[in-house]
Amino acid sequence: RRHIISLADFVSSEYDTVLQTAASFGEVLSRRMKKVPTLQGQVVANLFFEPSTRTRSSFELAAKRLSADTLNFAPGSSSLTKGETILDTAKTYLAMGTDLMVIRHREAGVPQAIATEMDRLGSRVGVLNAGDGQHEHPSQGLLDLFTICSLLDRDRPRLELLQGKKIAIVGDILHSRVARSNIWSLTAATGAELHLAGPPTLLPQLFADMGVGRIGQLSLHWTVEEALENADFVMTLRLQKERMSQHLLPSLREYHQHYGITRDRLKLCNPNVKILHPGPVNRGVEISSDLMDDPQFSLISQQVTSGVAVRMALLYLMGGGKVQ
Ligand code: CP
Repeated sequence: RRHIISLADFVSSEYDTVLQTAASFGEVLSRRMKKVPTLQGQVVANLFFEPSTRTRSSFELAAKRLSADTLNFAPGSSSLTKGETILDTAKTYLAMGTDLMVIRHREAGVPQAIATEMDRLGSRVGVLNAGDGQHEHPSQGLLDLFTICSLLDRDRPRLELLQGKKIAIVGDILHSRVARSNIWSLTAATGAELHLAGPPTLLPQLFADMGVGRIGQLSLHWTVEEALENADFVMTLRLQKERMSQHLLPSLREYHQHYGITRDRLKLCNPNVKILHPGPVNRGVEISSDLMDDPQFSLISQQVTSGVAVRMALLYLMGGGKVQ
């Protein structure tokens, strides 16, 4: 696969390839081996037109651990401020010999537009979507999948481990590109159940129109309590205030009261339940502050750690690496 824009068209074997490659890199990193020479001579450009902490830094670290040369673009100090277009910016990086472009933008469709332009120019550049608007965040979906599957089998994480597992996704699903990518990856696992819950104003219109109900592996609930019942994993999502018009923004106190993940609500879940959050977290809103830091339940730091191994796997596979 030259570009990774969406998980919509991923097939089971591709998920397993990413999971197993990431596990190999995780093993390498755990041995404190700092670098492998796999992408020596290749150039990875991080073109982040929207702010990021985790995704940008972990792609940079992943590229460096693979011995690639990295270019980091900062929009505020770039020629974008002089009116250069996004496509001309990408072409400038192409002309410098970039092999892989990692793109984040606040508008859905920008990574695809750049990928299409790169193909039109006959280049071999691979484009990786690092989050585009409300559309998708495929590397986050894959690192969430890796975090869950590695917990179930550290040596051989794979999609089939999710058979019979119940996963709740709670919060601002309407604005969440993470939810969209996770819905594709988790429903690719046969026998996994996905339960979505959030305020009606923060659910996609299609779901809101359908009302509560079930389609295949996907169930929709109005109350968080229903979604949490016997859940094995709870994914809580950030309230994306920057993408909300004022009328959609719930009071943060009310949101926490009705949808926040608290110790009391966790009693509804499987006793071994684990909590995920893609970050950044609105502390004390989506999840109570003490729970967020409790290693018995929280996988949030583990998600960040997994991000490096998964992004190494993606760059490696896109950079022409053979599956080991
Ligand atoms: N999860 C995530 O995309 O975080 P950043 O915005 O910090 O990259």
